[in-house]
Order: sequence, then structure tokens, then C-alpha cells
Amino acid sequence: GAAELGPYRHYMQKEIFEQPKAIADTLDAVAGVAPDLFGDAAHRVFDRIDSVLILACGTSYYSGSVAKYWLESIARIPTQVEIASEYRYRDSVPNPRTLVVTISQSGETADTLAALKHARSLGMNDTLTICNVATSAMVRECALAYITRAGVEIGVASTKAFTTQLVGLFLLTLALAKTRGHLDDAAEARHLQALRHLPVAVQAVLALEPHIIAWADEFARKENALFLGRGMHYPIALEGALKLKEISYIHAEAYPAGELKHGPLALVTAQMPVVAIAPNDALLQKLESNLQEVRARGGELFVFADADTRIHSGDGIRVIRMPEHYGALSPILHVIPLQLLAYHTACARGTDVDKPRNLAKSVTVE
Ligand code: G6P
Repeated sequence: GAAELGPYRHYMQKEIFEQPKAIADTLDAVAGVAPDLFGDAAHRVFDRIDSVLILACGTSYYSGSVAKYWLESIARIPTQVEIASEYRYRDSVPNPRTLVVTISQSGETADTLAALKHARSLGMNDTLTICNVATSAMVRECALAYITRAGVEIGVASTKAFTTQLVGLFLLTLALAKTRGHLDDAAEARHLQALRHLPVAVQAVLALEPHIIAWADEFARKENALFLGRGMHYPIALEGALKLKEISYIHAEAYPAGELKHGPLALVTAQMPVVAIAPNDALLQKLESNLQEVRARGGELFVFADADTRIHSGDGIRVIRMPEHYGALSPILHVIPLQLLAYHTACARGTDVDKPRNLAKSVTVE
């Protein structure tokens, strides 16, 4: 009801703004990084595994896709991410030394539960879930669990569940890195400090809302949009495109920016806004040249850049600057403006934001 919504127009907006608290709550009991964050048996499990297989659907699949970058670069553990509905019907090669990780807000998604059972039927019994509902089937079915504390999520388009999943997955990365000898005390302290500062950092990003509303008014008049990211921000581009599709019904696609020249560049006109996620990381220069390609074809750029990035607003290019550069955890900050962009675009189009047509909050049938 209206009372629960407080100053917000929709649950989705409320949930976007609850992210600092959801992240803080998810980190609440974390004193240090240890396997037992995931259960008593986690120590033994983490010692014997040699790879990770992540299974999920929808937005949860994208948090898993970000985690692959972390798990391989920080924990040095080979990681695969699969869409649950594909994995369950695919003839794959099982590795009994794989840690199977399911990610689910509800813990009741039929395809993800079936994919988990399929993995077990192939002899993979080391299972862990990152889940927002402690009493769910997923938590019951998995040997190990990390419960995110996003609280109840009502908006069909997932927001705070996603960012808290990323927090859980980053903790998993650190715990595995430690087990495998890839995390010294100084690095652990640095990562924990960055995690603990996230609620404040997210709050600062939320303050960009008025700038994003101005962009949303323009997006509301378009029928297509392209999202570009590179590296661990490519899944963030995918999530931004998904959010826009789900609630504003604007057709949106995401590409790793380096793939532009292999297809999507043919679609670029002034009618298709191109959103670029441009953190100040090792790939920034590459991304800048991708953006030149878009500009040269008359495409209009909307860039989310980091504080100290050289990209400037100009003809056909608009820039919103993120308050701070955030290293490995940057995807958690960069998804926030994309949530707000989708939300305000949908509002400008007058759609049913919390209950988009044809979609369900939790898909418990195949
Ligand atoms: C539905 C929801 C999405 C969600 C997906 C997976 O499609 O609309 O927001 O990401 O299911 O749900 P889960 O509960 O498994 O994370």
C-alpha cells in the first residue's frame, strides 16, 4: 500500500533506494573472509574443488556472469556460467571437483532448481547457493549457502537482489582466493574495506537521479537502445538492457564494445541511443575508440564515466560522471544508474513498472 511506499512512486524505485541498506545488511555478520561464511562444511569443500559452475536465470545469471571475472582474476579458479534452462537439457561433461553455485533471489525458480538437480545427477555434489530467501527450496537443496539480506523484493524487475548477490559472490571469490593462497592479509583488508564502504558509495550514485531523469525523458521517445560494456562491465551492460526491456518495453541489446564492428555498428543511427559503461579501467582506451566508431556514424552516446575519466560531454555525447572509481567492485556501482535509467524511462512511458506485462516475479514452472 501507499504507506509502505513512503516517498516513492513504485516498489522498484523504493528497492533501488534501499540498496545501501540491503548491502550493509548483507555484510552485517561479516567480520573477515572465511569459508565458514558459507556453512560449516565449506572449508573441506573449498579445499577439494578445482573449478566453479554457476547456474542461474535472468538477472541472477548476470550477477553470476560478473562473478566469473572475479573468480578467475582474484581466486584464479576456472569458472563457467550457464543459463539454467540451457544447462539442464545440455549434454555436458561433468567434473566431480566442481563447486556448483546457484544464484537465485526467490530460491524457487524451477529451471534453476532443475539445473541443480541435473548437476547432482551427474555426480557433482558440492553445491552452494547465493539466495535471498533462507526458507526456500534452493537453500534446502544446496549443501552450502550464503543468504543475501536484500529483504522482500516486490518489483518484478530485480534490483537490490542483484547488488546483494554481487556482494555474496565477491565474498565467495575472496574466500576461495584465500583457500587457494591468492589472498594475503593486506589484500583481504583492502577488499573488506571496499565492501564496507559500498553503502556510502551507492548512496552517492543514487544522488545522480536528477541527471538520469533528464536522459530518461529522451529514451522514452526511442524504440531501440544499445548498451556497451567491456570486461566485467559487459554483464552490467546486459543487465541494463534487460532492465530497459522488462519495464519500458523498449528493445535493447547489449554488446561487449569490441564486438561493435562485427554487427551492431550497422544499426547505429541518431535514432538509437548508445549507452556506454565507461569505468576508468584497463579497457578505457579501447572503449574510447569503440565510442569514436559510434560517433562517426551519427550515433548518440550516453556515457557513464568514472570521476577521473577524460571522456567529456560534447556534440552527440553526453556524460554522467560516477562519484568514485571503485576497482573490482565497480560493477555494483555502475548498475545503479542503469536501474534508474530504466525506471525513469518506464515512468515517462507510463508502463506498469512493478508488474510489467507477461512477466512474473518468480517463475516456478518451466
Ligand atoms: C524472473 C524475474 C527476474 C529474475 C528471474 C530469476 O524472470 O522476473 O527478475 O531475475 O526470474 O529469478 P530468481 O528468483 O531465480 O533470481
